[in-house]
Amino acid sequence: MSNSPLADAVQAALPRARAELAELVSFASVADPRLLPSQECDRAARWVADALRAEGMRDVALLDTPDGTQSVYGFLPGPAGAPTVLLYAHYDVQPPLDEEAWLTPPFELTEREDGRWYGRGAADCKGGLIMHLMALRALRDNGGIPVNVKVIVEGSEEQGTGGLERYVEANPELLAADAVVIGDSGNFRLGLPTVTASLRGMCVIEVTVETLAGNLHSGQFGGVAPDALAALIRICDSLRDREGNTAVQGLPTSEPWTGLDYPEEDFRADARVLDGVDLPGSGSIADRLWARPSVTVLGIDCPPVTGATPSVQARATALISLRVPAGVDAEAAQEALVAHVEAATPWNARVSVTRHGHGQPFRADTTSPAYAAMAKAMREAYGRDMVVSGMGGSIPLCNTLSTVYPDAEILLIGLSEPAAQIHAVNESVDPTELAALAVAEALFCREYAAGRG
Ligand code: BES
Ligand code: MN
Repeated sequence: MSNSPLADAVQAALPRARAELAELVSFASVADPRLLPSQECDRAARWVADALRAEGMRDVALLDTPDGTQSVYGFLPGPAGAPTVLLYAHYDVQPPLDEEAWLTPPFELTEREDGRWYGRGAADCKGGLIMHLMALRALRDNGGIPVNVKVIVEGSEEQGTGGLERYVEANPELLAADAVVIGDSGNFRLGLPTVTASLRGMCVIEVTVETLAGNLHSGQFGGVAPDALAALIRICDSLRDREGNTAVQGLPTSEPWTGLDYPEEDFRADARVLDGVDLPGSGSIADRLWARPSVTVLGIDCPPVTGATPSVQARATALISLRVPAGVDAEAAQEALVAHVEAATPWNARVSVTRHGHGQPFRADTTSPAYAAMAKAMREAYGRDMVVSGMGGSIPLCNTLSTVYPDAEILLIGLSEPAAQIHAVNESVDPTELAALAVAEALFCREYAAGRG
């Protein structure tokens, strides 16, 4: 027992939280109908709506967003004159990837010996919704919820399809709030309370190279015939300089990060870099992760090794993503990437580029009163000072919220500390982190209401 009734309430609520998270994780809610049936998303959305109704929320609705998915909304009125806090999470998840590589089934929340709960979405971001519910319940049972609460749980964050962003632009009154808590980030490391002050934006393109009417014998024609796969490899390689820095023509490459330092040894451990392997690029770790663009080849369509024949390829395709730091427009960056790819294509090979989605970067105003309230709440919940970090991942809605609601104070917290291994196989959440963050969120609501009252 701690000396805090809120912390005791959250601790006592952990078994229920685990049961609820297990239900939510059991829905394979990948918002890509090519990979998994969309009924799984429908079920998850209904589960969320039922959970919000069970909290006594009003106006609970499944919002049809322009990308064909559904976001779930609810509203809980607070005391007269209280500020409004918007709580965000998403119920869609990344695909499980290699199911064989999961030590326990991805859609069955399983506690392992290390005490963590494993399952796809456990940290990113179904646990984020559970964190919100735990915070609200702890407040209700300990003197009441001191703020008006809006909850929005997005249905297609991971696909970057922009559904909720477009919905909010068209319905700006819906999510209007004084403060926003985005429960989709993570502590800098387990147990170190963190708010994330910047996110990179992202754009994706698909590049197809064609050179021949059909594949050719690599002995009879190789050496002269223009190989589409070789051309594509050259294009991809041109996106980095000799040191390994991302070098897209027209994009800044040497911006510094001013803020929290990320020691190289910590990064190596977090990223599980193999011994003896160097880190590409120059500048500090934080510069490269949070202040600069980074390009990643996400996939290549070409013959797999097993069954490959000695042939020169007539055609090859790559899916390429580009992360861009705050201050760089993601759409302009996408155009720069397209122009770079076209210019880097050798041998007058035919190249065609399809632009997929893009999401804008985000930078928070850390001088706002909500930050001070969160710092106080985090210190009380964790017994140590909060740090402010950057984050290389993307949550495109943040930029939309800061544009549509310029006065809203936006805070990013969450369960995706490095050990959570989000997006990878064997994703997990640490229940001690879930409890501590739920306490911090509850305390934040109190602090914020008091400061505004
Ligand atoms: N929760 C992540 C963003 C994140 C990653 C926060 C790591 C903190 C630590 C989010 O769900 C995510 O992965 N977003 C996608 C968005 C993209 C498709 C536009 C991403 O960053 O790949
Ligand atoms: Mn994610």
